[in-house]
Amino acid sequence: MKISIIGTGYVGLVTGACLAECGHDVTCVDVDPGKVEMINSARSPIHEKGLSELMERHVGRRLRASTDLAAAVAATDVTFIAVGTPAADGKIDLSYVEAAASEIGGALRRKAGYSTVIVKSTVIPGTTVGVVRAALERASGKIAGQGFGLGMNPEFLTEGTAVSDFSYPDRLVLGGIDARTHDVLRELYSGFDKAVPRIVTSPTTAEMIKYASNAVLATMISFSNEIARLCRAVGNVDAADVMRGVHQAGYFTTRIGGERVTAPIVSFLEPGCGFGGSCLPKDVTALIGQGREMGLTLNLLQSVLDVNKGQIDEIMRLIRRHFASLQDVTVTILGIAFKPDTDDVRESPAFPIIRKLKMEGARVTAYDPIARPNGHEDLTDVDLAESLREAVANAQVVILVTRWKEFSQLAGLLKELGRRPLVVDGRRVLDPEAFAHYEGIGR
Ligand code: UDX
Repeated sequence: MKISIIGTGYVGLVTGACLAECGHDVTCVDVDPGKVEMINSARSPIHEKGLSELMERHVGRRLRASTDLAAAVAATDVTFIAVGTPAADGKIDLSYVEAAASEIGGALRRKAGYSTVIVKSTVIPGTTVGVVRAALERASGKIAGQGFGLGMNPEFLTEGTAVSDFSYPDRLVLGGIDARTHDVLRELYSGFDKAVPRIVTSPTTAEMIKYASNAVLATMISFSNEIARLCRAVGNVDAADVMRGVHQAGYFTTRIGGERVTAPIVSFLEPGCGFGGSCLPKDVTALIGQGREMGLTLNLLQSVLDVNKGQIDEIMRLIRRHFASLQDVTVTILGIAFKPDTDDVRESPAFPIIRKLKMEGARVTAYDPIARPNGHEDLTDVDLAESLREAVANAQVVILVTRWKEFSQLAGLLKELGRRPLVVDGRRVLDPEAFAHYEGIGR
């Protein structure tokens, strides 16, 4: 099929490259000429495992980028909207989605024949058949379901393993306003394993499935973190052992394919310094906001956010067991990315931890193997180290915030350097026996 994708962020670009890999012909559209040029020279603007290889294989053949939205829509059968939905005052800002829909509508007005528009961005339930439909109809002068098809097909990819998640999905959610749209969506994914469940539904249900899925993940993380606090208070109970036990229950299943199957992570029940990233905090906040607008108080989800915030205090509490004051204490943060294998630092727990440390007078160094968020406001007065060795060479306290593989070398490195700092394991990945002074969340 001939496909255009509006927006080349994580979701748009990964979707484009993976659909090209499936054999479709894909044009990615972005307003940023710099990004377009990078993509057209097969260089990926983001760090995502496997993406560069896909781009090398398909750019110049089945994959290209352009700033010309109208031409891309005119030349393709299906157009995905994959633009950003940033958070603003606890709500999501739909202006980019609406603007994209209007521009697509303008192109559809001049285009003969039938096209299908699919929303891929995570949008508040009701958006596709509301804001998006209205903008498309207004700008195109055509009626959804007659002049064009309209659908909502959420993405469940996680950063760091996005290409593998796209290629081996655990489900495909195909929301459409009519049978013709459902047929287009089915055909788009016809090359995927027949065993992957296809959930054929309405756009609004598809939107709600996406939000509810992220909310359940955030809830599981906060649940584990709360149980971990209780384990700590009870004493002699390790929260990670408890969650491993819980995880053996049949209702926790793993994804089909991809690396997740062998990953040592007890999926979403791993206590730690809290969830971050571009999705979970924003999506839970947006759901609470939508509830509020409709006169509902979503107490459980509010608590999920409160518990998540509280994990920063847990880290500080662990340090205070060893240091009465943090004035002039040298503290090193390991990991700025919100999770390993990505350079994305959005809503990373590293930032609130750094803010607290600075407030208490600590001298902060930070190190990340990939993320380079130069100019980030929380990093003023923070030394950014170029290597793990440099980062920990003078540290009195080392806090592991992100589960990067490289940090497994920490014990050996400290031995070599003859250093015995307090090590605070915010992700429970280090061996407590390997350090002179160790504290771990939930231990
Ligand atoms: C998430 C969802 O997993 C994905 O399905 C959705 O499409 C987008 O949002 P992502 O934000 O990329 O993906 O990362 P994810 O791996 O889910 O991690 C989110 C945060 O939760 C990270 O900060 C991570 O460190 C934290 N986390 C995750 C935990 O604290 N404990 C866990 O057990 C798992």
